[in-house]
Amino acid sequence: MSESLIVTDNRTGRSYEIPIENGSIRATAFEQIRANDSDQGLLLYDPAFMNTASCTSRITYIDGEKGVLLYRGYPIEQLAERSTFLETAYLLVHGDLPDANQAAEWEHDITIHTLVHENVKKFIDGFHHDAHPMGILLSTVGALSTFYPTATQIYDEEQRRISIYRLIAKMPTLAALAYRHSLGLPYNYPDNDLSYAGNFLNMLFKMVELKYEPVPEVEHALDVLFILHADHEQNCSTNAMRSVGSSHPDPYSATAAAIAALYGPLHGGANEAVVRMIERIGSVDRIPEFIAGVKAGKERLMGFGHRIYKNYDPRAKVIKKMADQVLSVTGTSPLLNVARELEKIALEDEYFVSRRLYPNVDFYSGFIYRALGIPVEMFSVLFAIPRTAGWLSQWEESLLDKEQKITRPRQLYLGSQSRDYTPMEHRA
Ligand code: CMC
Repeated sequence: MSESLIVTDNRTGRSYEIPIENGSIRATAFEQIRANDSDQGLLLYDPAFMNTASCTSRITYIDGEKGVLLYRGYPIEQLAERSTFLETAYLLVHGDLPDANQAAEWEHDITIHTLVHENVKKFIDGFHHDAHPMGILLSTVGALSTFYPTATQIYDEEQRRISIYRLIAKMPTLAALAYRHSLGLPYNYPDNDLSYAGNFLNMLFKMVELKYEPVPEVEHALDVLFILHADHEQNCSTNAMRSVGSSHPDPYSATAAAIAALYGPLHGGANEAVVRMIERIGSVDRIPEFIAGVKAGKERLMGFGHRIYKNYDPRAKVIKKMADQVLSVTGTSPLLNVARELEKIALEDEYFVSRRLYPNVDFYSGFIYRALGIPVEMFSVLFAIPRTAGWLSQWEESLLDKEQKITRPRQLYLGSQSRDYTPMEHRA
């Protein structure tokens, strides 16, 4: 049987054969379907991209029914257990795991770019003391483009490489500057003897000691969280990265757009919203009242549900297991018990069961961040740091994809037809 679809237009009685490739049909194949000569051709209407692939990709695979997540073919559980964030970032960007020399070179190239220009500190000083760190991050990442004008040469492989090193390297530095600014604490310089996660902890928490020594369990937990957040195929922020990148600005500007998309409570802001929600619930006995409110449509159970996963998010499984290990070092959290009980009740409730709503990556991550001493406002910033590796891989893939052009969706115009301007005195 041939791989095609026969479509009959009942307006004209004409039939069209549309080829099926990789389990999909090309939307442009429908342009030829016209009711008459003045018709512009059939459009496909898909608000929020519910069933439309915007690109081909070889980076991340998700099977939402089975709860499977692969980076370049490797299961997320194996990477979380055996890899490091920097190695995973290499895998995402280059397509394969590095050998020992490649790993050492990659680590070196990233580590030597951790410093930011001293002027960056000056404009961070200009933010209010209570400025949200995600707002600071998105503006300073955008501003980085002004320091590296050659980054606009996006079709020069060398320029792309250096932008990728710089962005992955400087993200933790900018995030830590935003955090220290909010507390009025002096800024800490990077310590390139430490690991990626260890150096980030150093820039966040070092006080007067000469050398900051991260707690190994804390450093490891943060590194695993970075691996779990490194990429997630065509989500809202990655789509922003690709879409903004498609007009060919430098990657700092495109990354700033991706950070803006991540900021929202339906995306990366959800981990912050989960902790605030659990704090509001406060105790196990108040869960039924809260669930009743969710079912009545008053609010959402944050950290639950996903556009793609209709099963337990595999990242949430790893995080839930890790929460116990981390809390055994840092001390327990009564709110984690409320979260666990809330999950149990929701997973047995018909409302959540029938809609196939399961915990997502954000349900438990906030409790670990909290146990690590990271304030709630920093949670989405901690999502942005590792996701930068995914955004950049997707950005580069998109730039090198011969089929891609500037993103420009179509619309179904349902407004007024052409009409004459009415002077003010004649308007009702
Ligand atoms: N609590 C209560 N009801 C929900 C929830 C929720 N968290 N999520 C979905 N629903 C209901 C929704 O009301 C709808 O019900 P009905 O069919 O009766 O109208 C049904 O489930 C389908 O929901 P939807 O809004 O059409 O699903 P979506 O695919 O557009 O939204 C989502 C996905 C993640 C935005 C949504 O599930 C949500 O708002 N979750 C809470 C926020 C959250 O945790 N976001 C983090 C996502 S994972 C991290 C990331 O990748 O960014």
